[in-house]
Amino acid sequence: MTSQNYTTAQNGSPIASSQHSLTTGPDGVTALHDRFLVEKLASFNRERVPERNPHAKGGGAFGELVITEDVSRYTKAAAFQKGAASETLIRFSSVAGEQGSPDTWRDVRGFAVRFYTTEGNLDIVGNNTPVFFIRDAIKFPDFIHSQKRNGKGLRDADMQWDFWTRSPESAHQVTYLMGDRGLPTTWRHMNGYGSHTYSWENAAGEKFWVKYHFISRQGLAHLSNDEAQRIAGADADFYRRDLFEAIDRGDAPVWDLNVQVMPFEDAKTYRFNPFDLTKVWPHADYPLVKVGELTLNRNPRNFFAEIEQAAFSPSNLVPGTGISPDKMLMGRVFAYPDAQRYRIGANYNQLPVNQPHAAEVFNYQHEGNMRYHFNDYEVPVHNTNHSGYPEADEARAGEVNWETDGELLRAAYTLRAEDSDFGQAGTLYREVFDDAARGRFLETLTGQGNSITVEEIRERFFQYWTNVDASLGAKLRESVGK
Ligand code: HEM
Repeated sequence: MTSQNYTTAQNGSPIASSQHSLTTGPDGVTALHDRFLVEKLASFNRERVPERNPHAKGGGAFGELVITEDVSRYTKAAAFQKGAASETLIRFSSVAGEQGSPDTWRDVRGFAVRFYTTEGNLDIVGNNTPVFFIRDAIKFPDFIHSQKRNGKGLRDADMQWDFWTRSPESAHQVTYLMGDRGLPTTWRHMNGYGSHTYSWENAAGEKFWVKYHFISRQGLAHLSNDEAQRIAGADADFYRRDLFEAIDRGDAPVWDLNVQVMPFEDAKTYRFNPFDLTKVWPHADYPLVKVGELTLNRNPRNFFAEIEQAAFSPSNLVPGTGISPDKMLMGRVFAYPDAQRYRIGANYNQLPVNQPHAAEVFNYQHEGNMRYHFNDYEVPVHNTNHSGYPEADEARAGEVNWETDGELLRAAYTLRAEDSDFGQAGTLYREVFDDAARGRFLETLTGQGNSITVEEIRERFFQYWTNVDASLGAKLRESVGK
């Protein structure tokens, strides 16, 4: 907070007036050299930055991850050693709607987590569901386009269902989306999932495949279609307000961080392709292993500076953590920093919310728009790389890699014994949903079927759900169009 009690121009000098422009007499023309007026209007014209393409509407808060268990047998990451505490930022979001869109439109919800660790920032940019609609990054723009507005500027059920019914791998995630998870009561009442398979490496160099699960201590709760619709009209910022007010009154939400751990060699023979993002690893095969607790207890001081300009990316990794041969994840490693250079600017990583808090940046990238941080060039040169500057030894860098062979080609994943597009979606419908959830699901899908206007797409809609579960398909043929 400033101790100054008068308004200044951007150069710090007191301004003559924030109420009146400089004119020739009270009724005359405005002077171009009114530096206060010109600066104010010019600043206003430059306030907007592009919104995130997907996940434009969101909100977030800061907190802390504390590691309560010993998982050093799986990872050497400093932030995951028992007793470690890392400052944390989470941004929750919806996917398809624009910045001002209502929080309670049915959608998957983003759950983007950043840990400011002593070894650099680690981001886990996930959702409130453990799977995704597609399994290859090359389909992502087509998928997002189908969820956004058509050429008439309207959201379009035909476009959405055209995409989904032509992409059978979407069935598992669409089952989640049309089920209760598509309308959480608040952001506090949902789980977060890294969704992809990631990798961990321990101090002895042993590698593991892992999936991150943030389980809500508040429990899972959902809105009905009617409640969500009513709230959408009454308060478009319902989730954002709920999170802010909960933290403000000291009711800090908590999630337990768990991982599923797959031994490295299991990946070769597991019954589902473990790198396919449309599949889960059933917990009976790989149970949850508790790691720690994450609490959100500090609201941002400024939404734009700390939430809008936050730049999460699956490429923000630390030693002992890594990606996997998931084709979606490899695409995302490129996509996020690219989007952020465009959306925020070349030096977006130097903003306070994006720079590491518990580690230092030291490299020879320099200059560019809005560069603030600079490097000390007088470094003793030892252990040099080809540029003549020192780099960390391999052990410290701790990059988790894997071996692969084969020719370069464009192909689907190798199918495993139990891989099918509809199998796990059917299991979710039959074995995870209870009767009441199945009833709500049918009601929601009936509404969806009714909003499709193209006969051919509606026919594919029936076939899609018949493939998930024959009796569900038959029920929908009964209920839609009545
Ligand atoms: C190849 C597939 C994908 C691509 C190309 C992609 C691309 C993007 C881009 C460009 C953004 C905006 C980033 C920004 O401007 O800061 C974004 C945001 C986001 N994406 Fe993805 N995405 C993909 C898949 C996924 C998946 C599978 C998940 C979840 C498991 C996910 C979760 C999110 C979240 C949570 C955000 C918002 C992050 C925030 O709060 O700032 N995305 N995505």
